Amino acid sequence: MEDTEDAFIIHGGNKLEGKVSISGAKNVALKTMIAALLFDGKVVLNNIPVINDVKELLRLINSLGARAKFIDRNIVEIDSSTVDKNKVDLLHASKTRVSFMLFAPLLQKFKECFVPNPGGCRIGSRPIDRIIDGMRELGVKVQYDSESGYYQSNISHEGIQGEYTFEKPSHTGTELLLMLSVVGRNNVVLHNVALEPEVDELIDFLNEGGASINKVDTTIIVQGVGKLSQKKEFTISSDRNEAVTFAALAIATKGNIEVKNVNPIAIKTFVDTLKKAGGGIEVASDKAMRFYYDNELIATSIETSPHPGFMTDWQPNWAVLMTQARGESVIHERVFENRFAYVSELRKLGAKIDFISPDVGDPDSHYYFNYDVSQSYKQAIKIHGPTNLHNGVLTIADLRAGASVVIAALVARGESVVNGAPILERGYENFTGKITMLGGNITKI
Ligand code: EPU
Repeated sequence: MEDTEDAFIIHGGNKLEGKVSISGAKNVALKTMIAALLFDGKVVLNNIPVINDVKELLRLINSLGARAKFIDRNIVEIDSSTVDKNKVDLLHASKTRVSFMLFAPLLQKFKECFVPNPGGCRIGSRPIDRIIDGMRELGVKVQYDSESGYYQSNISHEGIQGEYTFEKPSHTGTELLLMLSVVGRNNVVLHNVALEPEVDELIDFLNEGGASINKVDTTIIVQGVGKLSQKKEFTISSDRNEAVTFAALAIATKGNIEVKNVNPIAIKTFVDTLKKAGGGIEVASDKAMRFYYDNELIATSIETSPHPGFMTDWQPNWAVLMTQARGESVIHERVFENRFAYVSELRKLGAKIDFISPDVGDPDSHYYFNYDVSQSYKQAIKIHGPTNLHNGVLTIADLRAGASVVIAALVARGESVVNGAPILERGYENFTGKITMLGGNITKI
């Protein structure tokens, strides 16, 4: 399993100031790397972040026989012509959630494949039932063997075709069904798809390679093209989650950071909410924004939802900001179950946070996970601020919780130890380097 022994030592209290450049988006890098296995010939991807999740995925696809590597600092080249295995290795797959997306290239190549139940960040049970349903609806036979933990799947002789309506949207589900459909010979229509900008970027990448994919509102129409090949190198966009983390760091530490290489549209809901809370924001250029401490923040409640709503990945960062804001704020998580693993850690630093149970009417339609009446859920917290945070010994439970714990430790007075550094490094490139450049006192041991 993952090595989670490494820790960050953080001396909090410094204002973070200066400029920081945002790296390539993890959740585009991973999907384009998998989609590259659908292409004939070599594929070159630029702006790929050097993060643990990308390194794990490289190992995983190379274990299938592909030749995939960094050929320069942030440039990955992938050649799938040598892929000769249709069974995904259990150990490698357990380290990265997107491993199940390998169904698409392996079914395209071998018509049959074996893929284990996915690993990755434990935020709720994270089933892939909708995705399996969708595959079946489009003509893939899938069986799960609970003893081995593997899905065995093969394409029926009619191939991939038909229509599928997601009962509730799924980001990676939409992407996987897209990838499956694109190199078939038939038409596929997907309804109620995810609207995240990362999905649009995957569509751009595939269309540049010769695919025929059209998205109209919440429907995607794919005409199978049989073959894909890269005409020009593809450069992935910057990571909107990293941008939000540095914005939160600027304001929580009462600092001032120019965040470069950011797409303001992709973080618009965050920026609008931050304005409401009184955060200092200035557009520095079409690709740079400055975030600064202006006045004490005003407690501002949020509910997460899929794009264009307030993104679930941003709420742990928002929670730290709200510990510094005057008043009571509520964070209500609608996308994932169990996404409050950071609460116990922030409490160790003195944060005043209670779990609450908002009345939501019909929970099944309110929440995006599969709501089960027999379960008890903790989907909302109330934060009482402002609090002077103090140091503590903390543990990172999942990637985004990790960012919030580190921000809090950088705000807190005194020395904190944050265990589980590799979990954070799954998704943040050169994290300690960037924080140090901005004047934060962080080292990894
Ligand atoms: N769900 C099901 N069954 C399914 C699919 C999804 O119950 O078959 C549930 C999920 O458990 C969740 C909700 O539906 O409660 C929405 O899940 P979705 O499939 O949209 O999320 P995801 O594809 O698993 C991706 C990102 C997440 C990001 C969400 C929302 C990747 C690799 N992961 O997850 O990113 O939070 O979309 O945009 O793209 C992260 O980067 O740390 C991260 C968790």
